[in-house]
Amino acid sequence: MSDEDVQLEARLAEQEVFEPPESFVEQANVTDEGIYDEFEENWPECWEGAADLLDWKEDYNQVLDDSNPPFYEWFTDGTLNASANCLDRHLDERGDEAAIEWVGEPVEEDNITYTYEELHRKVNEFAAGLREMGVGEDDIVTMYMPMIPQLPIAMLACARIGAPHSVVFAGFSADALATRMNAADSEYLVTCDGYYRRGDPLDHLDKANEGLSGVDHEVERAIVAERLMDGDGFDHDYADNQVAFEDVIADNEGATVDPVDRDAEDMLFLMYTSGTTGKPKGVKHSTGGYLAWAAWTSQAVLDIKPEDTYFCSADIGWITGHSYIVYGPLALGTTTMMYEGTPDYPDKDRLWDIVEEYEADQLYTAPTAIRAFMKWGKQYPEQHDLSSLRLLGTVGEPINPRAWKWYYKHIGNEECPVVDTWWQTETGGMMITTLPGIKDMKPGSAGPPLPGNDVRIVDTEGEEVEPGRAGYLTVDKPWPGMLRTLYKNDERFINEYWAEYSDTDSDDSDDWVYFPEDGAKIDDDGYITVLGRVDDVINVSGHRLGTMEIESAIVGVEGVAEAAVVGGDHDIKGEAVYAYVITEDGYEEDEELRSAIIDGVEDAIGPIARPEAVIFTPELPKTRSGKIMRRLLEDIANGEELGDTSTLRNPDVVSDIETKVQGD
Ligand code: WTA
Repeated sequence: MSDEDVQLEARLAEQEVFEPPESFVEQANVTDEGIYDEFEENWPECWEGAADLLDWKEDYNQVLDDSNPPFYEWFTDGTLNASANCLDRHLDERGDEAAIEWVGEPVEEDNITYTYEELHRKVNEFAAGLREMGVGEDDIVTMYMPMIPQLPIAMLACARIGAPHSVVFAGFSADALATRMNAADSEYLVTCDGYYRRGDPLDHLDKANEGLSGVDHEVERAIVAERLMDGDGFDHDYADNQVAFEDVIADNEGATVDPVDRDAEDMLFLMYTSGTTGKPKGVKHSTGGYLAWAAWTSQAVLDIKPEDTYFCSADIGWITGHSYIVYGPLALGTTTMMYEGTPDYPDKDRLWDIVEEYEADQLYTAPTAIRAFMKWGKQYPEQHDLSSLRLLGTVGEPINPRAWKWYYKHIGNEECPVVDTWWQTETGGMMITTLPGIKDMKPGSAGPPLPGNDVRIVDTEGEEVEPGRAGYLTVDKPWPGMLRTLYKNDERFINEYWAEYSDTDSDDSDDWVYFPEDGAKIDDDGYITVLGRVDDVINVSGHRLGTMEIESAIVGVEGVAEAAVVGGDHDIKGEAVYAYVITEDGYEEDEELRSAIIDGVEDAIGPIARPEAVIFTPELPKTRSGKIMRRLLEDIANGEELGDTSTLRNPDVVSDIETKVQGD
């Protein structure tokens, strides 16, 4: 480390509180500290301001209908269309301005700027095509696409005709696609031929086709976008029900489709996410409340203004991309960027190259990326002029203070506030973070709840814990962006999120408390540090993975009798998958089985769930009642001191496993 670094480390290491930079405060969208009291006193009417960011066709009658908790309804009887809000209403003033800047993998010079006018045109044409092939209101259209512009075009086209979309991350496996299409009874798929990753063309349609073969109902139509260049294609023959995206657009050239009036509570989209049990949960989001929440938080927290160029490096296949690449930014009429590829190709300065070239005003990324940037070194950002940046954000997992400070210093030049935003697929948008023009920042702590949000840290009984003590995060009041239910499974919705701390027999909204399944602590200033999941979900590089899902993939492999999956600490990924496996009699604990297990996980879920380590063990540590002691397996994975193991039915197994892990 250079002297300068040492000094910086020393100075920054000491500092625990950072004030918002003056230059930022002077221009921030939200600067009145009174907003916190005002929202509390004026709840839930305080959310009228969020609704006012949208154009409504029919005005709503009531901000919140809480008569049937936890099935809350927001902006009741109001009607609107999300695509009209993201496109049409900006045409007069911003028609010629960029809506989306798409930065492709550097295969050829093929970046594309879509002005609002152009995006509007494509969305209309594609919407007309969808209609023509029979997609009606409330038909769920699945999308299985990487970061190509046809994805937001398809999403907005669906929104235009009132067909909810269900986007499946392109890195998920064929099986994962089939499971989600089956669960949603989805009869339409939008996918693509392939895409580029680190310079190489990848076949995607092959995987999509394999997924389609696992769908247990008839699929009306699959639309295939073409991303690969001539000669890089994989020579697919389209099946009878498959058509090229580009043909759908061409056949509908110049077509316009009136945006359908959607009730505020009508479903805008479904997003499947991992939960405690093996089956992914279909999180249902509304049109009015969700869009208001995405727009309001984009404005208040990301400080987005129409003239900004805003860059979020997430994938649209996750909720972050939905709310903060597509819906929030476009609702505000700004320029949103999407990039294809990885941060280290063609070199480790990819993001900084993009920030410089497009003069990005904000950057919103994940702690796992920041930890990788740190490891690669500050020489990469230093090669670029990053002075256009005004605000930095992070999301997806806790950020350690060292990474926070590195980001603040080496990317933000100590001139940009850093917003550490806690939220979930289920919350639709941000819930806990500092308002950047008002609040001091404390690295490692997301900050206070956003105004109007009633977040408490409680013990198992639901009593608030003392500041500094670890407890469970709860949200005591509903909010517009909240999930409405789990698709076709109201019962699971109640059990997963509400049952823990609510009086589920009550129809008084005050008796209902939302439980996000995260642990947290609060300090004397009301700043919240999120400690991580308390359910069987692990967070690998900011991606939520259900341990049960991975376990069921592993036990599906021939030769495996039993498996337990836990998250072990990982420098870059935050957590990594550790799989403890018991083999069936007659099978060898060998490399062959190990790779079969890894392949099994990749096939069932995708490469993101790939185990870091597969540890063969004769037994799993179990309590006397037969429950696997996951905590113990985590401690072993992390090489930590093990506590009392005397309550185990089989205490001897622990040292056997420890030896194996250390030898791993
Ligand atoms: C975790 C991503 C600490 C948390 C938007 C949550 C965080 C889960 C933060 C949701 C943060 C997200 N600090 N932990 N700033 N943001 N998390 O649904 O455990 O993919 O429950 O949504 O990520 O992950 P999801």
